[in-house]
Amino acid sequence: MADRRDSFAGTIGPARIVVCVGTGGVGKTTAAAAIALAAAREGRRAVVVTIDPARRLAQALGLESLGNEAREVDGAGRNGGSLHAAMLDPRATFDAMVTRCALDEAQRDRILANHFYQTIAGNLAGTHEYMAMEKLHELADTGAYDLIVVDTPPSRDALAFLDAPRMFARLLDNWLYKLLVTPSRGFARTAAAGAHTVARQLTRVVGAAVIEDTIAFFRALDGIEEGFRLRAADVYRMLQSDEAAFVLVVSPRPDTLEEASRFASILGDADMAVRAVVVNRVTPSFGSAAVPQGRSGAARALADFRALAEREAAEIAGFVATVPRSTVVQVPMLPHDIHDLDGLLTIAGLLFAPT
Ligand SMILES: Nc1ncnc2c1ncn2[C@@H]1O[C@H](COP(=O)(O)OP(=O)(O)OP(=O)(O)O)[C@@H](O)[C@H]1O
Ligand SMILES: [Mg+2]
Repeated sequence: MADRRDSFAGTIGPARIVVCVGTGGVGKTTAAAAIALAAAREGRRAVVVTIDPARRLAQALGLESLGNEAREVDGAGRNGGSLHAAMLDPRATFDAMVTRCALDEAQRDRILANHFYQTIAGNLAGTHEYMAMEKLHELADTGAYDLIVVDTPPSRDALAFLDAPRMFARLLDNWLYKLLVTPSRGFARTAAAGAHTVARQLTRVVGAAVIEDTIAFFRALDGIEEGFRLRAADVYRMLQSDEAAFVLVVSPRPDTLEEASRFASILGDADMAVRAVVVNRVTPSFGSAAVPQGRSGAARALADFRALAEREAAEIAGFVATVPRSTVVQVPMLPHDIHDLDGLLTIAGLLFAPT
């Protein structure tokens, strides 16, 4: 049976939220920016939130710098559309979430000034991913955008963000929290007695000040966790809805493709569909031009390229069969890095080209 799939434009065009995922260095940030730029050209109000510590994207967009607040990219939109870009600052986003959810100013101040909070807000494993999702919520709330594109961090575990909205729930369910803060609530007396022993031992190891900060932090959270949980649940729902599309970016290498199949199935299990796969940096096959005769360097290089392109084509075909419901688009390896709007437009043109 013929393998008929929608074009990238048909699949991604209608989405209101696009999340680019993939392993490190495959082209997530580039794809995210190109998708947002393409929408801006079509007259939509698009925003791209990147996580790009290398700041290559700011350069490519012609911006001196990118910050946590979205800034408009001059001259990127057409037909009434616009492109905004932001670079996620997990700490600033966390602060904004605390400010939004705090029951009153005193609670907000208590949390923001707490040392334990200041440590985890920027650094705890999963905070980047969690805050990327919170940023998505924040931008969706403004109602200012027709399309929100979210880039994901170059973490080793590229799907950590799936767990991120539950990070707080996990933190609050944490045994340490229960032991330290609620020994008398819902715990048997023996457990409470044990808790004090644990607390005493911990105090010896990490120091009394740290323990005090930690306890003060969890106490200060009283009542605010519900707000956090609701927002996390909202984001989860958004990501599972028809308005959201995951774009899985991969490179045509066997190990990356294998990893990508695994991602697609994990996302599927979470009811988050990988609508499209971008196979990026595919070796061009140079068509069927006659190979120069002889044993010259050029002849050998061309033959090598062809052999590589053929191997990749076979690997890609094997991979494509594992994602039967996703649109697959191939983007060739360009002879240069993407370092300006024109470069991003080239990528956008290749992604959205009619097939
Ligand atoms: N099709 C392409 N041809 C040539 N260069 C490309 C192509 N796609 C991306 N690049 C370049 O590859 C580099 C990595 O791309 P990018 O930063 O988008 O990857 P990433 O997946 O976001 O990486 P990280 O995981 O580190 O965040 C960049 O310098 C980018 O310009
Ligand atoms: Mg990146």
